[in-house]
Amino acid sequence: MNTAVAAAKPAETAGATSVSVVVKDIVQEYPAETGGVTRVIDRVTLSFDKPGINMLLGPSGCGKSTLLHMLGGVRPMGVRTPTSGSVLIDGSECQGAHDDSVMVFQRYANRPDLSVFDNVAFPFRLKLWKSRVPEAEWRQRVADMLKAVGLADKAGLRPAQLSGGQNQRVALARALVLRPKILLMDEPFGALDAQTREEMQRLLIDLYRSWPCLVVFVTHDVTEALMLGDRVIVLSTQPARVADDFVVGEARPRSAAWQRSAEAQGLEERILNQLHASPGKGQVRVTI
Ligand SMILES: Nc1ncnc2c1ncn2[C@@H]1O[C@H](COP(=O)(O)OP(=O)(O)OP(=O)(O)O)[C@@H](O)[C@H]1O
Ligand SMILES: [Mg+2]
Repeated sequence: MNTAVAAAKPAETAGATSVSVVVKDIVQEYPAETGGVTRVIDRVTLSFDKPGINMLLGPSGCGKSTLLHMLGGVRPMGVRTPTSGSVLIDGSECQGAHDDSVMVFQRYANRPDLSVFDNVAFPFRLKLWKSRVPEAEWRQRVADMLKAVGLADKAGLRPAQLSGGQNQRVALARALVLRPKILLMDEPFGALDAQTREEMQRLLIDLYRSWPCLVVFVTHDVTEALMLGDRVIVLSTQPARVADDFVVGEARPRSAAWQRSAEAQGLEERILNQLHASPGKGQVRVTI
């Protein structure tokens, strides 16, 4: 296994707030329906110590979302998480949801009763963020972010008046308006059509350039992993172990010519070989 840390481009990450996230010897077991326990994650150790886009791939049900939640200190109700091992954020053991980490999901979770502006501004209704950011500043941040995601002219609309891609832009804006050190994305573009997904990938690259942070992005899409990632981590089938972990050095945005290059094809094959090595490999997509 080739373990490597993201090769973030200095120009892209200038001004980024750095953060270190380490998961060490993580084991996660869940109660099994038949009694006893099922081991979902088996002694996974990973460290992230600079801004960068880190892609997490693995067979369906192998434990990607479980691991992603752990990286932000989020624990499911009623289950001890992790069963053993530790999650360290900036060197401190993480005991609960971490303030510097935000998540974006496939189901964008926009409030149907609020306008686009109020959906993006929603975190500032919460005590923590109200006390951290003065009102004039958060209003400015929301306006700037709406512009950055191309929704400045839609600020007064409701989510039902937007397309799926536009709704995902709202969710992304709501996350980035907090200037998170850690951005966790769980198949955020998985439900979008191919063209919208590519638009969202380009948008993420632009947003990352303006607000670089530590991104961990779960995907089923091998092409998406190669077009976006500074680093690609492949998990094995359940119980998940790190099956591969490598750096992609090509600068973003990556061209169609690079996508067809021997380097990209070789990396694609490397990922597919790992995923195919896992019995019950589940859903994998290649969008080349
Ligand atoms: N709170 C929970 N209690 C019991 N089992 C759980 C819990 N959360 C997840 N699991 C089980 O753990 C396994 C891994 O789930 P997880 O959602 O992390 O996988 P995943 O790789 O994200 O899957 P997918 O690719 O389908 O999104 C699954 O078998 C799931 O049923
Ligand atoms: Mg999942």
